[in-house]
Amino acid sequence: MPRILELELGKTAYVIVKELFRLQSGESLLITVDSKDGWKAALEVAKAAEAIGGKVMVAWHSSASGYGKTGDSKHPTPLKAAISDTDAWLELNKEWLLYSTPWETAMKKGSRIRYLFMGGLGVEQLHRCVGKINWPAQEAFQNKLAEMTRNTNTMRLYTEAGTDVTFDNIPSRSITNELRADVPGPHFLTGQIGWAPREETIKGTIVFDGAFSGGGIADIGILTDPIILSVKRGRIVNIEGKREAEIIKSWIARLDDDRMYNLVHVCYGYNPGARLSGICTEDERVWGCTGWGIGYQGIMFDGNFGDAASHADGICLNTTVYMDGKMIIEKGVPTHPELKYLADECRRGFKNG
Ligand SMILES: [Fe+2]
Repeated sequence: MPRILELELGKTAYVIVKELFRLQSGESLLITVDSKDGWKAALEVAKAAEAIGGKVMVAWHSSASGYGKTGDSKHPTPLKAAISDTDAWLELNKEWLLYSTPWETAMKKGSRIRYLFMGGLGVEQLHRCVGKINWPAQEAFQNKLAEMTRNTNTMRLYTEAGTDVTFDNIPSRSITNELRADVPGPHFLTGQIGWAPREETIKGTIVFDGAFSGGGIADIGILTDPIILSVKRGRIVNIEGKREAEIIKSWIARLDDDRMYNLVHVCYGYNPGARLSGICTEDERVWGCTGWGIGYQGIMFDGNFGDAASHADGICLNTTVYMDGKMIIEKGVPTHPELKYLADECRRGFKNG
């Protein structure tokens, strides 16, 4: 019996295998999915990979109780072996393997693995955030925004909810411009451009008014009330707010790892299909948001902070972006002429969902 979006999922699965991984006949694709998530998407991606001659394995496994290294003791031993010996790896887990110890091993420098993170996304989200994307327009838009960011020394992010934070960039550091997973290393769902600013220059106030996700009890999702961070020299020095802010405060305190106060990346969200859903992978890409990561710093950011017990992300909606004093994006809407044109192209066809 066909389910809703059955055909659309078929197309999305093909895009993931053929366009994003650019999987070749004879290559191995591992798909991981934990018991907290549905595995319909995993099944369809597996079929698409099989059809083009891939060697496919779906690893459906016990769920951890948090992201990253907080889940280390719960990850099955054979899973650890499988993720470190494959050509391509699609992660669909609800409780992320991302930033765990076996993930670090699999992603160590020189690894051949093309890793693509789509943790927690369901069929409808995959359809909106992958299957419906206008890839040439999305690539042109993201490349322009990434280039402009790379050429900026000092940035200011501002929101009406209260975010007002400044920092300097380091031009030599990587910018993760997420489109495909066709070269070795970690890759993520499209519509995100992330980087690590010069740590000691990050200062001001960050107000999460969209969502917060940290796995386990910290996986709050869509926020009822804002979470207000005071930031000095790249570190959280105070957390204020209501009930959700208290949960985050006590969660970090319980992890008993001072590195969880580090601000390890900032990112733009620009996936035209993404909506605020409470699933971090989608929330981080809501059109016009910015997000901040705390705790563990992925190797792809070339930053100075590095390891930590876990990782969490908070979302600031409708962010105004200043590059070297000039407003480029107003309340999430690109105002720079070239960027605006490309943004409109990306959003065509999404206005009515
Ligand atoms: Fe993050």
